[in-house]
Order: sequence, then C-alpha cells, then structure tokens
Amino acid sequence: MISRRHVLTAAASAPLLAGGLRTAALADTDHPPLKELAAAKGVLYGSCAAAPQLLKPDDFTALLVRECALIVPENEMKWADMMGPGESSDYTLGDRMIDFVTSHGMAFRAHTMLWYWRTPGWFTEIADRGLAEQKMLARVKDMGTRYRGRVYSWDVVNEPLKPDDGRPDALRQSVFLEKVGPQYLDLAYHAAREADPHAKLVVNEYDIEYDTPEQDVKRLALLKLIERMKKDGTPVDAVGVQAHLSIDRLPFSAKKLRTFLADLAAFGVDLQITELDCTDEKAPADIAVRDRMVADEYARFLDVALDETAVKVLVTWGVSDRHSWIVRHETNNMKWRTDKEPSRPLPFDAALQPKPAWTAIAQALDHAPRRQAS
Ligand code: XIL
Repeated sequence: MISRRHVLTAAASAPLLAGGLRTAALADTDHPPLKELAAAKGVLYGSCAAAPQLLKPDDFTALLVRECALIVPENEMKWADMMGPGESSDYTLGDRMIDFVTSHGMAFRAHTMLWYWRTPGWFTEIADRGLAEQKMLARVKDMGTRYRGRVYSWDVVNEPLKPDDGRPDALRQSVFLEKVGPQYLDLAYHAAREADPHAKLVVNEYDIEYDTPEQDVKRLALLKLIERMKKDGTPVDAVGVQAHLSIDRLPFSAKKLRTFLADLAAFGVDLQITELDCTDEKAPADIAVRDRMVADEYARFLDVALDETAVKVLVTWGVSDRHSWIVRHETNNMKWRTDKEPSRPLPFDAALQPKPAWTAIAQALDHAPRRQAS
C-alpha cells in the first residue's frame, strides 16, 4: 500500500492544482518506487528501455532499476531492427539487454516476434506461400528458443487487427496475412509455445481504450479473435492493451472499458497494460496545466484498468520525459506539439523528478484491489 505519508509529503510540497491533483515535487529518493506500489497489489510495473539506457549506465539507468520490476526492449528485438547480413539476425543488443535485466532481478517482457511494421524487406519479397510460412515460423522458433526460460511474456504478434481493411475477421492486411494466409496467427502462437513453454504468449493491440465508433469495432474484433483462438486451442495467455493515450480528450467510457476488460478476462487470459504514455499535443505550453491534463488522463484510464484484477502488468513506454518516442517525434505527426515545447508524456520529468502523472499512477495503484500476481 502506498504510504499516506508519501502522498501527503508530495501534496504538502506543491501547490494545489485545479482538479485536485498536486504536483509531486519530491526529491528523487523521497518517493516509493512504483514497482513496490504495484507489487503490493500483485501487479508487475515496468517500462520499455533502449539498449544504451541500460548498457551505458547513468542516472537514468539508476531510475529504471529503482522503479521497474520489468523491462521491455523498445526496438532491439523487432525483426527489422536486428537485421544482419543476408537473412541473418544480429542478437547482440537483445542478448545484452536480457542479460542486464535478468541479472538485476527484473522480469523481461519480450517484444516482438512478428510485427508487420518491422519486418525485413527480404521477407516481404518472398513469393512462395510455403517458403514464407517456413521463414516466419523459423523467426518465431529462433527467438523463442534463444531466450527460452528467461522471458516473462512474449508479444508473438503485435497489432494483428485493422477492421478498416475490410475483412470479416478484422485481421490487418499485413505482410504475414498476405504471404502466409489468415492461419498465420495460430501457426505462430503454436510455434512460440513449442519454442518456449514457460513464456506467456501475448496478443498486443492499440486503439482499444477510447469511446469512439472505430475503437468500439476494434474492441469487438479483439474479443472475437481471442474467443476464436481459445476455442481452436491456440495458445494465447494474455492480451496487451497498449494504452497510448492523448489529452486530445477523445470520448472515454469507463463503463465500456470496464466491460471490455472483464469480457477479455472471461476468456481466461491475463491482461497487461503494455505501452502507457500520453501525448499533450493540444495542451497549452504552461507546464503545470499540461502536467495536470496528462495526469488526469492517466487517472481516468488507470482508475478503471487497474480495478480489473486480471490486469497483472503495467508498463509505461518510458519512465521519464528524457527518453520517449513522443518527445523524439517518432509518433505519427498528429501527436507532435506545434510549438517548440518538448512533450511531457511520462511519470518523471527530464530531470528525473516525479510529476503529477506519477501521483496519478500511485493513487490508482493505491485504490486498486489486490490480485494474485501472475
Ligand atoms: C516504437 C518505438 O518507441 C520507437 O522508438 C520506434 O521508432 C517505433 O516503435 N507500438 C508498439 C511499439 O508496439 O513497439 C512502438 O514502439 C510504439 C507503438
């Protein structure tokens, strides 16, 4: 349980902001690590990290180790990011990251075996269906066996759905669908289970958090996919909800999100919040106002998400605004601020001080029911 003293200390040290959240202007060591607040409720808290952030240790590395019970490689295990000569893969960074993470007693959330967006060019040029299936499964087997027994969970297929592509099963017209056929998902999950029977196998998806007609359709498609995979005996252990939020104030329905998570859980899968962050593209430059808007967005999402006891993992896509794909403008340009101000999407600021978003996470964890860790 979060100590009242910490929340009170945070509150006392900063002015009260409209909306009730206070800035958590705490010295670095004055706050309890998020991993401890999460663990008290049976939740694994972690972050993504890029290789240099772990392998060239600095104060940011120290923050990661202090806050996180779990690490996800941000890009280093994506197929197209590991390309060696010819069709070979370069495992150097992935190997070094998993060594660092496990030797520091943290869990490793491996990401990702197959992602349409990060697939080597040579694969996309294969014309023969059988050969494409063989190469796709070789990739799954290769990653699964190389890190066998050391991985908490594997994103086997990242972002498999795209209802707009018009298929009745809502599968994305991805390179895997095109080359191998719609059975590619089941083939991949079976191969992943065989390669590493201990890793939880995850379907990871985005744009399923808000109350828009498009996201309604995608939520339903995901429910149907998991139901179908379970019915067919395809091994899927968890569903990842990416949760790239935005203070654009898209409509949000606590009821819809709650029902969706409960319906997923009813299929017997764990749930993971896998990539939480929040863009502030439409917020005023004023930092206090912006930080409160971001924190409110974290709060309204997490207060519902963490209430569902099937949620066993909470990952933010970075810990501090010093390192974020949003700040680096690697997102869709609709998410960029139009002024020169860097975005402030994460729980700690660039100077590694906790922000109101930190308080929102801590409070949501504090209110959350205890669950059996998984
Ligand atoms: C992002 C990384 O953060 C960026 O550095 C990279 O340029 C693109 O990919 N969904 C995912 C993640 O599953 O792998 C993505 O990570 C963010 C969206």
